[in-house]
Amino acid sequence: MCAMGVAPPPAVPSGVIERIQSDLRSQRAARGRWPPGELSFSPRRTRDFEREPLPLLLRLHEDYGPVFTMRLLYLPIVFALGPEANHYITVSHASNFRWREGSMGDLIPLLGDGLLTTDGDYHRRARRIMLPAFHRERLAESTSIMVQEAERALESLRPGMRMNLYSWTRRLALRVAMRALFGFDADRGGRDGRMAEEFEETLGYWGKDYVLQMLRGPGSPWRAMNRSRAELDRVIFEEIARRRSSGERGVDILSLLLDAEDEDGSSLSDQELRDQVMTLLFAGHDTATSTVTFLFYELGRNPHEIGPLEQERDAVVGDRSPTAEELVAGLPRLDMALDETLRMYPPAWIGPRRSIEPFELCGVGVPGGVFINYCSWASHHLPQVFGEPARFRPDRFEPEAKAALPKGAYVPFGGGSRTCIGMRFGQLEVKAIAESILRRFRLELVEPQRELSIRQMPTLSPRGGLPVVVHERT
Ligand code: HEM
Repeated sequence: MCAMGVAPPPAVPSGVIERIQSDLRSQRAARGRWPPGELSFSPRRTRDFEREPLPLLLRLHEDYGPVFTMRLLYLPIVFALGPEANHYITVSHASNFRWREGSMGDLIPLLGDGLLTTDGDYHRRARRIMLPAFHRERLAESTSIMVQEAERALESLRPGMRMNLYSWTRRLALRVAMRALFGFDADRGGRDGRMAEEFEETLGYWGKDYVLQMLRGPGSPWRAMNRSRAELDRVIFEEIARRRSSGERGVDILSLLLDAEDEDGSSLSDQELRDQVMTLLFAGHDTATSTVTFLFYELGRNPHEIGPLEQERDAVVGDRSPTAEELVAGLPRLDMALDETLRMYPPAWIGPRRSIEPFELCGVGVPGGVFINYCSWASHHLPQVFGEPARFRPDRFEPEAKAALPKGAYVPFGGGSRTCIGMRFGQLEVKAIAESILRRFRLELVEPQRELSIRQMPTLSPRGGLPVVVHERT
């Protein structure tokens, strides 16, 4: 076994000035005409995009069509919406787009060179090595962790109590991630508990206003993020070294990745392992938390959808805990509710890329070397593709209706060679948590009439969480 592989990609500038300069340089070098759109400098547009991007994106789609340009801060960014654009960028012409030089490169200081932030041969090799760890049979172990942790978390709920469902699920998802990815117990003090705290601290950086994120001096969120990241790195590298020297392995994903090999017998180096597990932790934590919260938000607003879900789980699972098989394939109504939740609120709502060569999409020319984003959130709200897009209607995902959707219409997990590697893991986790709640409780929204305000960076989540009242199921 050896750690040789493909050379890592070149570093991307992380200083604010360097980054702006490099963005402006490549914008000047862009070849070809920009798609139509709003190209003037407008702080108001930038603010609107930061606060509520969906209405803005849908308006520009109506005014200019599926491929348009919008200037945000100092940079024009091309957006491409709808089935054809999603399929073009993620599947049919994916090799003309790079993630690393896209508009979310500010994640690289935390994630390093993991699956999310790399392209080409480096990305392909890492995916080949990692995919077996996410096969269905391998996930059975993770599923029992999800079920156990969900049941444990439910012990803290009492009928009549009021709680923030988002915060409760976030703690639960972090415990699941710590155990399933690293074999750590987040409830244990010392190293394991600190790791969970540092991770939350690190993520906090991306929740700050954009201007605050740009500061780099003492006391800035950037410095705090880097301090926590360094502590996380220390714990992860120590654990990798400990496992390598002791040969100890568990049922966690780190154990599988330590021994995973490419076709040529090469394996992941310590640095590669660190970057990949940090990426998994980052990509899987917020996404699952938000999906559980949005699902129960919509169920709270559409109580007629709850009874059938309860009946389904009662008939299939009864009073015991669900098996992995039941969660995978035995709860089709819950699958439909989950699909519809991910249509309305796909947490990883934007697919940031940079084009390599100029190209034409939906009859519109786009230059090479520019930021271009596909966007599941806006694509899933196009009324010509999903009628009454603002209504929660799980029946859209009856198997036949789902199969009849145009290619690229529904992309909550992306597509092509970059499709979410944690898709099954994420779906199982959301279903394990939802199933355990449905078994024992009904959650009532504290403010059912209030439209949810949605925070969108780095993933969609309800601003301020979701207050609910817990009721015993009758
Ligand atoms: C409901 C849960 C989840 C949703 C909706 C989701 C969504 C997505 C999407 C849309 C992408 C593609 C982004 C792009 O095209 O730029 C992606 C990629 C990725 N996701 Fe997930 N994700 C979820 C859960 C997870 C989990 C649980 C993990 C890890 C355990 C994970 C790990 C990753 C990784 C590593 C990538 C990069 C894949 C690559 O580029 O090869 N995700 N996810």
